[in-house]
Amino acid sequence: MKFNWQDLPKPFFALAPMEGGTDTVFRQVVNLCGRPDVAFTEFTNCEGLLSKGREEVGKRLIYSQKEKPLIAQIWGIRPQSFFEVSKLLVEMGFDGIDINMGCPERNVVANGCCAGLIENPDLAKEIIKATREGAADLPVSVKTRIGLKDIQTEKWIGFLLNQNLDALTIHFRTQKEMSLVPAHWEEAENVVKLRDEISKKTVLIGNGDVESKAQGEELAQKYALDGIMIGRGVFHNPYVFNESVSYGSQTKEERTALLQRHLDLFEQTWKEVHPISERGYGKSYPPLKRFFKIYISGFEGAAELREKLMLTENIEEAKTILSKS
Ligand SMILES: Cc1cc2nc3c(=O)[nH]c(=O)nc-3n(C[C@H](O)[C@H](O)[C@H](O)COP(=O)(O)O)c2cc1C
Repeated sequence: MKFNWQDLPKPFFALAPMEGGTDTVFRQVVNLCGRPDVAFTEFTNCEGLLSKGREEVGKRLIYSQKEKPLIAQIWGIRPQSFFEVSKLLVEMGFDGIDINMGCPERNVVANGCCAGLIENPDLAKEIIKATREGAADLPVSVKTRIGLKDIQTEKWIGFLLNQNLDALTIHFRTQKEMSLVPAHWEEAENVVKLRDEISKKTVLIGNGDVESKAQGEELAQKYALDGIMIGRGVFHNPYVFNESVSYGSQTKEERTALLQRHLDLFEQTWKEVHPISERGYGKSYPPLKRFFKIYISGFEGAAELREKLMLTENIEEAKTILSKS
């Protein structure tokens, strides 16, 4: 069945796109803990997907059917590339396409990409148009911030709301603020007012510093937002979308079992998708270590166990240490 942003419950909860974090394996772990209503892939570069190295880049877009609805997030600079990549994403079976206009990293912004588009609405408009043409009847959305150096909600968000978007996620900070100040949720009032005036059909998602569903529900209700996106909160609590579990009170056994699950899914996923190569699995092992902190914390002896795990060089070593812990 075709995904439609309007059909989600109100308020709905979305798992944020997070580079190096929300790959298919971690998204599946999160789903086991408590499902978000919709999730996003890590941001993926359009030129990379059209280059010779597309197979490596494409690993960011691997997913399991159980994760749906799943939105592919892309970034880049050439409208023609957005058009071609959108056609690929349709073939790959995604439920929607999201354009990154919010990543604040200096190098991408200096090249005019991501949050750099806030200063270049003409190009942003062309990119949205090209994506829509390639996306056929898939919904097209944008994720952005409230300005580049200063808060420019009316100008920038007002402009985006004139682009006939199906959904718009707003991280309530400027590019300059990175993630260094609390999110300006008070801007949500203005955003919703603009949406009601300009584009009633555009679903609005608020994002920034939400650590629980209860907090998200309160914010959605206060500002009449359609949905709430949670990012880093899921690293602090993988059960964040499941109100009936208190991660804080989970035992060592429960937490290590979740890491075990993550390791198993990593093996399964990369063995199936990219058969074992001489360098291990279809994806290398070291970046997996950044997930250890999520599970191996909050119990006696966690720091020592984590230290041992950080010294491992492959999954088998990690599993052996876990089994002896
Ligand atoms: C490690 C990390 C990677 C991120 N990668 C992306 C990304 O690929 N695309 C994107 O739109 N935002 C990305 N973000 C921003 C988040 O999606 C989100 O907007 C931000 O973290 C604020 O929400 P939060 O306070 O709930 O974490 C990333 C954030 C973090 C911490």
